[in-house]
Amino acid sequence: MITRTKDELRAAFKQGIFPLITQTADELDVECYAIGGYVRDLFLERPSKDIDIVVIGSGIRMAEALQEKLHGQGACISVFQSFGTAQVKYDGEEIIEFVGARKESYSHDSRKPIVENGTLQDDQNRRDFTINALAVCLNQNRLGELLDPFDGLHDLEERLIRTPLDPDITFSDDPLRMMRCIRFATQLNFHIDDHTFSSLTRNGERIGIISQERIADELNKIILSPIPSKGFIDLERSGLLERIFPELTALQGVETKHGRGHKDNFYHTLEVLDNISTRTDNLWLRWAALLHDIAKPATKRWEPKTGWTFHNHNFLGEKMVPRIFRRLKLPMNEKMKYVQKLVGLHMRPIAIADDEVTDSAVRRLLFEAGDDIDDLMTLCEADITSKNQERKKRFLDNFALVRQKLKDIEEKDRVRNFQPPISGEEIMELFGLSPCREVGVLKNAVKDAILDGIIPNEYQAAYTYLLQQAAADGFTPKT
Ligand code: CTP
Repeated sequence: MITRTKDELRAAFKQGIFPLITQTADELDVECYAIGGYVRDLFLERPSKDIDIVVIGSGIRMAEALQEKLHGQGACISVFQSFGTAQVKYDGEEIIEFVGARKESYSHDSRKPIVENGTLQDDQNRRDFTINALAVCLNQNRLGELLDPFDGLHDLEERLIRTPLDPDITFSDDPLRMMRCIRFATQLNFHIDDHTFSSLTRNGERIGIISQERIADELNKIILSPIPSKGFIDLERSGLLERIFPELTALQGVETKHGRGHKDNFYHTLEVLDNISTRTDNLWLRWAALLHDIAKPATKRWEPKTGWTFHNHNFLGEKMVPRIFRRLKLPMNEKMKYVQKLVGLHMRPIAIADDEVTDSAVRRLLFEAGDDIDDLMTLCEADITSKNQERKKRFLDNFALVRQKLKDIEEKDRVRNFQPPISGEEIMELFGLSPCREVGVLKNAVKDAILDGIIPNEYQAAYTYLLQQAAADGFTPKT
């Protein structure tokens, strides 16, 4: 049961920073409430970061007064005049956000003045969801009093996401809320009320006015949820996915020819994403799972002998990653490169496990994947979604063998972050060459010999091998 008696709520708001907020509000003689995510998470017994406070009056004045009280404790304040809000940061990371109760719609358009002078109910009307509109009074004489005009407590109990007003109004006030709706349902494992959901399908077009950064933020939160597929299925059903991420909807569908179909790559991708999410909290590894088959629609062919094929979808997928990251305003740094690398390599362990697991294939894989080898193996294990239990077991057993071989070879040959023991400069110096193709050929010959296990990963062996190769090509060392 999701309930708290007034005494319990009062006790919860007598902790930490709250007594100081109570004191400040009483001194300024303004009504003041905790609201939003902090109150919701208190009922759900979830950890919560930021505290949102609504003041019946000026949020900025209240924040300034609190900061003065915290003076000497390293508190700092940021005022956002055009939004009518102010943040107080203390203890290095705790953030309290103050806002004056508003009558007008929640607005991110800084050109419009924010109308404060609202009542608490006006402010609650303009919040996104009933579960985010719960308010608890912080003034001493009413400390712990819960104000819940839309029965948000009932919705917490029923695990329901519902807008306080007509959803068409709530979503048009701020279309990002359509993403937030699906994100909260996914994060909290709640159901979206039917009336609210049908509004998503009607207002999808409005998502176009929201910045990519904010959309990507919500997508990341969906991806980091316990069962991310739930969010992507809701995004798809509402029509939002087609607008924000058409490459994913393109994965949908099964084509059949001469009685042979391929799997639906959208649902397969979501299964892989859920699988990997049980194994890692690494956002970028989860992104790699989401994008691993992204080039399947573009590479799909029917071949009379083999049936449906997706040749080179890993390589084309690797090329698509930067385009997708750039459009979504995701980081274009080493995180993107990591996702790219995993998408590009994701077929390799499967190819090895499908065949005889040779030392040289494993050594090459280790060389190319470097420090990301464990993540690559995790991705590939999550990729086995075959319903044929025998087939699934065979792959997983073979992967275990690949993992064991990776371990043995790494111990023996240390090729994980392999640098060829003889550099190009050394080769040029030794044979009196200036930079030319032959230098690269000789250097690669040494690298290949090590990766193929012909010689050990040691300087002397590499040097001797280099001399032999060079002699065969007609090069002799300068004396
Ligand atoms: N809010 C809103 N509409 C938005 C964003 C926020 O109505 N588009 C309101 C909600 O009442 C929300 C509160 O502002 O609870 C605080 O917003 P935010 O910090 O973004 O969300 P939280 O609910 O705290 O949840 P989380 O921290 O998980 O994002």
